[in-house]
Amino acid sequence: MGTKEKTLVLLKPDALQRNLLGKIVERFEQKGLKISGLKMMQLSDVLLDEHYSHHKDKPFFTGLKSFMKESPVVAMVLEGLEAVSVVRGMCGPTQSRTAPPGTIRGDFSMSRQANIIHASDSVENAEKEVWRFFNQDEIFDYQKIDFEQIYVEDER
Ligand code: CMP
Repeated sequence: MGTKEKTLVLLKPDALQRNLLGKIVERFEQKGLKISGLKMMQLSDVLLDEHYSHHKDKPFFTGLKSFMKESPVVAMVLEGLEAVSVVRGMCGPTQSRTAPPGTIRGDFSMSRQANIIHASDSVENAEKEVWRFFNQDEIFDYQKIDFEQIYVEDER
């Protein structure tokens, strides 16, 4: 048993520049997560100030904002049972150098700032972040044909 959740993922400018978008999207597809939204965005100061407001007094805030504007990002909404914690686990911890092998950061990055991916850290924040980056008509509610193979009956 689990709760169906949506979570926000950003594939950061380093993922795009290093040609890793396909490999990362593939991992989420292979895991069995449903893609409910997917788009490319050039992030603005207004959006970044809101998204990283909890980091605004940190020494890395200005550098982080510049990094996130270096190129477009790919924003995704992923859906599944307990999707928030599942996706966080797949990303690994912030510091990529010590992120475990098998995680996205552990396999693809050596940096703390240029750490490839952002994923919502709680169900409460996921709800806010999905609507921060997506409009209602950009999130798709559709039937995925492998649903009944991915979850057994008493999980659905
Ligand atoms: P994320 O967890 O997506 O959101 C906050 C981001 O700030 C984090 O990924 C990193 O990209 C960046 N970050 C966190 N801590 C540091 C740090 N100490 N130095 C530089 N960047 C950081």
